[in-house]
Amino acid sequence: MKIQLAESYGFCFGVKRAIKIAEENKNSATYGPLIHNANEIDRLKNDFNVALSENINTFKAGDIAVIRTHGIPKQELSLLKSRAVNVVDATCPYVTKPQQICEEMSAQGYDIVIFGDEAHPEIKGVKSYADEHVFVVNSGDEVDLLRLREKVAVVAQTTRKIEEYQEIVGKLMATHKEVRVFNTICNATFDNQDAVRKLSQEADVMIIIGGKNSSNTKQLHSIAKDYCTDSYHIESQDDLQESWFKDKNFCGISAGASTPDWIIDDVIKRIQAISNS
Ligand code: F3S
Repeated sequence: MKIQLAESYGFCFGVKRAIKIAEENKNSATYGPLIHNANEIDRLKNDFNVALSENINTFKAGDIAVIRTHGIPKQELSLLKSRAVNVVDATCPYVTKPQQICEEMSAQGYDIVIFGDEAHPEIKGVKSYADEHVFVVNSGDEVDLLRLREKVAVVAQTTRKIEEYQEIVGKLMATHKEVRVFNTICNATFDNQDAVRKLSQEADVMIIIGGKNSSNTKQLHSIAKDYCTDSYHIESQDDLQESWFKDKNFCGISAGASTPDWIIDDVIKRIQAISNS
């Protein structure tokens, strides 16, 4: 069986940057998981003593708090600073951008529409930068239910599909005189998505590697499934099942933006072993 990696996959700029920042801040703690990958979080703990705390009250004056790639709500950032915690910001600059846009557009009197998942940490953070006139929608249908003022500004979660964002923007344009559109979808996501789209048209089985909570990995899996029905989302080699590769000739592989290379290498070795058995 032929095994091929997508042309673009795995760690993005924002995740590489966050890991470097964490490694440079030994004996610290991240507030919330730094990235959506439990294995990498364990490595940072074991090799650099970078702990993980989900509870903001565990941070005391003088502690180092590393802020996760997805960012945190504005109020929590202020709270940490007010307690004299040393805040080291590893928020991805592509996430900081929509935060700033929300703040600025809100101040200018725009209603803010965010296309994303309200429960996702990135969106909780982005939303906190707007005033009370902010609405999160997860689909075009939800846009129909909104009652907005005249001036609307719209941003998207960094990992969303551009086609779905275009649908949402189109609906807002049809009903509002002034719509300010900001393309906040991240290029790293585009590159990995384009590569998966291409590869899954050729492969007869696709393996997408990444954390179960990783939004961009789920998107990659969803695209792969559009073209290749036998597409599977796994976290590590332990999730692989031999039956997936029976009678297959071409296995395509991709990985989400927070999946480290060593996990991908282990998966490839395991698939090679299955294929040769
Ligand atoms: Fe940032 Fe894009 Fe990665 S938003 S964390 S560079 S997927």
